[in-house]
Amino acid sequence: MRILLLAMFTAILCISCESAPKTPADELFLSKCSRCHGSELALKNKKTYEQWLDTIKRMENFGMDITGGERKAIAKYLSEKK
Ligand code: HEC
Repeated sequence: MRILLLAMFTAILCISCESAPKTPADELFLSKCSRCHGSELALKNKKTYEQWLDTIKRMENFGMDITGGERKAIAKYLSEKK
């Protein structure tokens, strides 16, 4: 019984520790930009908003499917990240 309780407790802890707070912009970025290469490729790059728009347009030439609004949201997200 004690082991069972411990197992349940650990499981509950893991559910809450795994889901670090993610914003909709995080989700959008991860779903769009980690398909062909790792997301860290973009995260470790420092660019301005305009430069990110250009980069994202280049990614679209590689076959990425994205709307204009999503492109702006990701460019904003990446130019404002630390
Ligand atoms: C359809 C596949 C594909 C998707 C989806 C994709 N990329 Fe790329 N990306 C590439 C390829 C191929 C390269 C390497 C060739 C190059 O750099 O031109 C690359 C390189 C990069 C680079 C390094 C070169 C640079 O310009 O700094 C960055 C940053 C980058 N991608 C960001 C992104 C972001 C942000 C997204 C989401 C909006 C994204 N990628 C989605 C294919 C993709």
